[in-house]
Parts: sequence; structure tokens; C-alpha cells
Amino acid sequence: PSHDTSVAVTENRKVLSSAISSQIDAHSKWGGIVPSIAKLAHAERIDMMCKSALKKAHLTNGIKEIGAVAVTIGPGLSVALEVGIKKAVEIANENSIPLYGVNHMEGHLYSPFVQNSKGKPDIPLCFPFLSLLVSGGHTMIVSVSDNGNYEILGETQDDAAGEALDKAAKMLGLGYPGGEVMERLSAEINNVDKYKFPRPMIHEKTFNMSFSGLKTHFYYLLKGDKGQNIDIQHDLKYLASSFQEAVFDVLLKKLESAINMKNPKTICVGGGVSANKYLRLKLRRLSKKYAIDLHFPPYKYLCGDNGAMIGVAASMMIKRGENPSNINLIERIPRLSLVQLKK
Ligand code: KG4
Ligand code: ZN
Repeated sequence: PSHDTSVAVTENRKVLSSAISSQIDAHSKWGGIVPSIAKLAHAERIDMMCKSALKKAHLTNGIKEIGAVAVTIGPGLSVALEVGIKKAVEIANENSIPLYGVNHMEGHLYSPFVQNSKGKPDIPLCFPFLSLLVSGGHTMIVSVSDNGNYEILGETQDDAAGEALDKAAKMLGLGYPGGEVMERLSAEINNVDKYKFPRPMIHEKTFNMSFSGLKTHFYYLLKGDKGQNIDIQHDLKYLASSFQEAVFDVLLKKLESAINMKNPKTICVGGGVSANKYLRLKLRRLSKKYAIDLHFPPYKYLCGDNGAMIGVAASMMIKRGENPSNINLIERIPRLSLVQLKK
């Protein structure tokens, strides 16, 4: 939602076509998302993305073959969401087809099961499962009991994992967004944990997480207020790596506690941070330890925000018999709270 405009044509779990336009360059020089720029950029691109996705889908009768429209209704940046919602309502009205408002996190939740147009990979949809969602806006552990029944076991109390990585990267002068740069720098020194930063809330009994204390610790360390004189340039990779390690360690420990409580047969991971190869390695080790199946979004574009996962999540809503959204209502609720995910 916030910096990518994306439209896809999907059929059940298959993605017939996908179009994504990133506006990250327009934001990165400001060090983060600028709402007014996002709003304008989405508005400029949305028609183009719709056209492009329809064209790439090679439907014989074009839009006439589309049976429903799905759109992200939140959580996310409301001025950005509104652009998509307006367009979706327009398409639904013009073509007299139903409209489904989809929770952004539900899109990430089902992203490991999204298939290409040939139906690959063919991972069976295996309820129940445990889901770790790690994006720039949210970090949560969700227990999915059967199609459509969610229980949020825990979530971040402040910054999300991706947000924490972005903020640390910014403090290190690495630009925005920072997750990918942090991954690369850390990998160059084999992910050494030189600084052993505090792991917030790691020993608490809940599955909730917190990353803002870590961020503050990092800030004061860089400022020299922790009694250490830090040469950022000299120690750049070690600082990045130690920070990343602290974030991932918390994620892994919390997920492990959830595994111990729920004994899942399957774990799914989604969200922008799930593209991180080192996080994937840690998760693979964990799943091996407990002999649990582990699924990630099968293609890189499915980790970040994309229209395809929203279409697939909508087909799950249809499968479990949910009614289409009320078009008149949907325009008035541009932002949904996370509680909406709890059914
Ligand atoms: O899911 P997403 O695309 O957007 C939101 O819904 O927020 O997640 C974006 C987040 C950003 O914080 C970005 O730094 C992070 O995902 N990210 C990564 C990687 N690629 C993107 N974090 C760690 N390693 C990566 N390779
Ligand atoms: Zn997202």
C-alpha cells in the first residue's frame, strides 16, 4: 500500500498477471514515506497498473471475464488506500461485479500459498498453521485454526521488525528502506553478533514483542552515550549485523514459544522482511528442530506488498462463504484496525 501500486488478475490461488509500480525512489530521499507524495503517485499510476495487469492476463474478453474485485482496505496509509478503494469501487460499479475488501495482513498471511499462472508451486493449503508476519508496519504471530479463523497470539507493542531495521539503517546513514542493505552488510561478515544488543521482552511470557527500546539503545550507542566510542564507518557491518541479530533473535524466540504452545504441523511466514535469507535460514533451522513444514512466499515479489496476495486472500474469503463488501460502506472505512483480522 504505502509505496507500491499493484494490480493483479488472479484465479483461486493462481496469479494470471501482476503489475507493480514502485515509487520508492520518490520517498527514499526523504528517508521515509511522505503521505502527500504517496497519494499523488498512487493516483498517477493506478489506471496504468489496471490496464497493464489486464493486458498481461490475456483474457479473451478482457475485463468482462473478471468476476469480482478485491481491494486492500487496511491497515495502511489511508491516503494511499483510498486511491485503490476508489478505483475498485469504480470497477465494481461499471462492471456490476462484487467487491471484496481485504485486510492487508490477511494478504501477507496467504502469500506463501500464492501460485504462478501454471499453478506452481503446488503446496497444499494446509490448515491449521502458525503464521509469522513481518512487514514494515506490523509484526505478529497468528494462529490460523481453519480457513478464516484467526487468533493473534502476539504482536509488536511499538515498532515493527521491518520498521526497526529501517530506522537502524537510517541511523547508520544507509538510506530508506533499510532491511535489504542491513541484510547484505551483515552477510558480508557472516552475521556476527559483536555487540549483543538487548533483546526486548524476550523473557516475557506473552508472545508480544517490542523493538523501540532496542532502537533507542542503538541511538545512544551511536551517539557515544553508552561509554563506548563508536566509529560508525569502521564498524558499520558489525553494527548492522548485531542489530539485525537482536531483531531476529526476538522473532525466533517468540515463534518458538508459540510452537511449544500450539504444536503446529505447518508454519507460514510473510511480509517484506520474509525476503531476508538469513531470517529464512534461522527459521529453517527452527522448523527442522521441531519437524514442522515451513512455507515462505514462493516468489520474491510476494514478500513485499502486491496485489496478487490480495486477490488470493479474497478468493479465500469467497471460499469460506463471506459476503461481498458493501460498496457504500467501504468508502467510508478507509482504515481498518488490526482487530478486524480476528474473526
Ligand atoms: O510488507 P512490506 O513490503 O510493506 C509493509 O506492509 O510494511 O514490508 C516492508 C519492510 C521494510 O521495512 C523493509 O525494510 C523490509 O520489509 N525488507 C527487508 C528486506 N526486504 C524488505 N527486511 C529485511 N531483509 C530484507 N531483505
Ligand atoms: Zn505489507
